Amino acid sequence: MLENLQPQAGDKILALMAAYRADPRDTKIDLGVGVYKDATGHTPIMRAIKSAEHRLWEEQDTKTYVGLAGDPEFSAAMARLVLGDGTNLDQVAAAATPGGTGAIRQGFELIRHANPDATVWISNPTWPNHPSILSYLGIPTKEYRYFDAQTRGTDIEGMLADLTGAKAGDVVLLHGCCHNPTGANLTAPEWQRVIDLMQDHGLIPFIDIAYQGFGDGLEEDAAATRTVVQQMPQTLIAASCSKNFGIYRERTGVLMAISQDAAVKKTAQDTLAFLNRQNFSFPPDHGARLVTMILQDETLRAEWASELEEVRLNMLGLRQQLADEMKRLTNSDRFDFIATHRGMFSRIGATPEQVEKLRQDHGIYMVGDSRVNIAGLSASTVPVLARALVEAGV
Ligand code: LMR
Repeated sequence: MLENLQPQAGDKILALMAAYRADPRDTKIDLGVGVYKDATGHTPIMRAIKSAEHRLWEEQDTKTYVGLAGDPEFSAAMARLVLGDGTNLDQVAAAATPGGTGAIRQGFELIRHANPDATVWISNPTWPNHPSILSYLGIPTKEYRYFDAQTRGTDIEGMLADLTGAKAGDVVLLHGCCHNPTGANLTAPEWQRVIDLMQDHGLIPFIDIAYQGFGDGLEEDAAATRTVVQQMPQTLIAASCSKNFGIYRERTGVLMAISQDAAVKKTAQDTLAFLNRQNFSFPPDHGARLVTMILQDETLRAEWASELEEVRLNMLGLRQQLADEMKRLTNSDRFDFIATHRGMFSRIGATPEQVEKLRQDHGIYMVGDSRVNIAGLSASTVPVLARALVEAGV
């Protein structure tokens, strides 16, 4: 049997991580995988997480199973974080999942279960694991235009034109904030146009929100998602705690299925638990418990929010520094978009050959489509990157 297996292409982002680790140059710069790093290149454990872990170690007296959908307190805390304090929890079915990827996967399975005819529309470009999981599950997929390679901004007209081709019941996968990989985001009026189109065509939004707090702030980054939920009859949301709580390896995420018709909540809730049971039974609990403790405790929450804000402002500062440096070196405003993009990533606009050259000549690692992880930079490496970009002819 095993001899029938075919070699797998492997995930490009994760392959880059391994290539970076294997590079012996001490001047190398990792702008690949979406992980936050401080000025020394270290990914710290957030202070509130450490405090919650201490408390958990003191207080937790059992490791017995929780529930198939995880702890309802975690789901409620996450629903309030993403949807706002006034959320009507009667409308929200939710299940903890292994990370944001787990939530995406379970969301796709839910779609296939509920409507096998649905096509899932994904942005071009999007996080590569979206189409990969969809194709693995055999779910029909189509792309809508999203990014304007000239302006490095969004292509709202192209997006709306493409989504006009969707049929009732199709699902539109949207990035709630901090679009991965481009860093270009819709404005509030543009979101409204997308909502109007989804309403007119009977489409279902599925929002992937993995970077809440990394763009314009915790509340601001959730604003578009909240508007969608308020206006659409049904919405799916996959939320990740990997980045904004810095608990990548704990695999902590949640899938929410929201319906303005509260009667469907119970069936949706039972289905989420069923799907968890089929795939892994019980979701991981450790990270979810830490997140719950932080969100429920005023002091821990304030400490977490302020550290997250430091992280966000640090990334914004790096964006501005890089944009300024590029302006100085190229004597043009071609790279101003770096300062207006939001989140961890910006698609910088280098060709695959230039990306390869940056890696070979300078040990600068970015994803092949020229996605740069801004958090991989520091005040001292920004000028190094800027000079290398100019030298490579970007
Ligand atoms: C990324 O896009 O780099 C992150 O979401 C990590 C991953 O799993 O790909």
